[in-house]
Amino acid sequence: MKQSRALVALSACGALLAGQWAFAADYAPDWKRGRIYYRMVCTACHKAETGQSISPMSKTIAEWGEYVDTDQHDASARANPSLKYYVSREYRDSVKNENKAAAKFIDVPADELLADLRAWVVHGAKDSDTPARCQ
Ligand code: HEC
Repeated sequence: MKQSRALVALSACGALLAGQWAFAADYAPDWKRGRIYYRMVCTACHKAETGQSISPMSKTIAEWGEYVDTDQHDASARANPSLKYYVSREYRDSVKNENKAAAKFIDVPADELLADLRAWVVHGAKDSDTPARCQ
């Protein structure tokens, strides 16, 4: 019972995401790949730098959309102000020796990785069907 409800929630979310991205080229974002990248690359640094992770449920769907689409990152200037920088090939290259996910996704086009990441944070946003704590 529990499992089937989770499945319904998942497919509803999938439909929502598919609709949202229907206008974008012909790339269908992979939120699962976005989740791996978020957990292994973004969170790795947040934990190392601040001792805390930033959860997808810290923002709403609309806030994440704006955050990603306007290329915001850290307003305090403690890190690179561009989110795109952290999905770039250049950044992945710079950490690939110590970061397995950066190495694994080294050849993924940056705009695809950004779309995956956006799909994941929207998927886990606080007003989504599947709010995701930490990571
Ligand atoms: C090299 C380190 C580093 C990487 C990699 C990194 N960040 Fe950050 N990020 C920071 C630091 C430092 C802050 C500031 C935290 C603070 O002030 O407490 C921050 C803050 C943030 C914030 C909070 C800013 C706000 O105004 O809400 C978000 C959201 C965020 N990062 C998302 C990401 C995402 C998504 C990625 C991966 C694509 C990423 N970050 C990769 C270092 C990093």
